[in-house]
Amino acid sequence: MSFSVAVAGASGYAGGEILRLLSTHPDFEVTTVTAHSNVGQTVSDVHPNLRRYAGLTFVDTTPEALAGHDAVFVAVPHGMSGALTSHLPAETLVVDAGADHRLTDPADWAAFYGGDYFGAWAYGVPELLLSQGGKQRSLLAGARRVAAPGCNASTIILSLAPAAAAGLIDLDTIVSVLSVGPSGAGKSTSVALSASELLGSANAYKVGGKHRHIPEIEQGIRVASGGSARVSFTPVLVPMSRGILAVSTAQLAAGTEVAAVRAVFESAYSTERFVEFMPDGRFPRTADVLGSNVASIGLAVDEHAGKLTVVAAVDNLTKGTAGAAIQSANIALGLDEAAGLPIEGVAP
Ligand SMILES: NC(=O)c1ccc[n+]([C@@H]2O[C@H](COP(=O)([O-])OP(=O)(O)OC[C@H]3O[C@@H](n4cnc5c(N)ncnc54)[C@H](OP(=O)(O)O)[C@@H]3O)[C@@H](O)[C@H]2O)c1
Repeated sequence: MSFSVAVAGASGYAGGEILRLLSTHPDFEVTTVTAHSNVGQTVSDVHPNLRRYAGLTFVDTTPEALAGHDAVFVAVPHGMSGALTSHLPAETLVVDAGADHRLTDPADWAAFYGGDYFGAWAYGVPELLLSQGGKQRSLLAGARRVAAPGCNASTIILSLAPAAAAGLIDLDTIVSVLSVGPSGAGKSTSVALSASELLGSANAYKVGGKHRHIPEIEQGIRVASGGSARVSFTPVLVPMSRGILAVSTAQLAAGTEVAAVRAVFESAYSTERFVEFMPDGRFPRTADVLGSNVASIGLAVDEHAGKLTVVAAVDNLTKGTAGAAIQSANIALGLDEAAGLPIEGVAP
């Protein structure tokens, strides 16, 4: 069966990655692509790397343009999804790559984003453990409204959920420092994102608990553990086009040995196709996940400091956004969860 698809914001980085993955998907056929400043351009004008849909022309991003499809992927700046998608029929699958429907607490939305709150949708991290048992995947099956995760948020959540769910870490001591590539900020131009500022330098930003993904991270840890979490998160912009390398630490329960920690990660992820838990002593590199829908995770117990240290690598545009969106769509529609999703990276 072939599902007709519209991609809103298809001229951007996230929308372009959605198109790239859909181009080899056996069950989806993209028929509409929308944009803003690029209306009237073709896909090949904006994304010369995308050949399957090269001749499609970008149209304006309106509710009318998105109507009449089986599935709609939305990859526009946050705050726009509600007005764009609220009139789509309940049976249409809508997957939003933006932040608009991720947060379950309206107070979090007001504090970190602001503007109208349009409610939470099924969260698109299928591998996330649920404190009541099972995984988030069960809540995506049959869903028709899905919120794809924030790339930094899902990387940290997957890094810590097994230890949090098992009660092995103090949830008030989580510290995550992420090296991130500038594609995470989209195509927007700014001096800080220009090559002359970025190349040869690493720059921390949103320092001191200011990043918008913080409530989403704490929500994900809460979903896994059943308890509240306090997360210190600092992103560091580094000169790689895409990719996230997340180093997360937390205080371990006294006397916890590495074998016990490894056991809960093995149990959580050994059957997962898109989360790779590395052998003892090995840690992931961003190069090995680029273009791949895999979150790669390694860990160590720092006995001197009494801390768990987890290192995770994710391609922000693939498993961090578009891959998660399509993986969730596959589950929602009852398709093979892995359809259209690469696991191989493109290193070096
Ligand atoms: N980049 C990532 O790694 C990443 C990760 C997770 C989630 N996301 C989310 O995905 C969404 C898109 O991000 P992005 O990184 O792809 O940004 P982007 O590269 O800047 O693309 C933004 C897209 O939205 C369109 N757009 C901009 N202003 C618009 C308006 N007023 N009305 C309608 N369309 C408009 C743009 O069209 P034109 O280019 O034609 O102007 C473009 O297609 C955001 O909500 C972001 O938070 C991104």
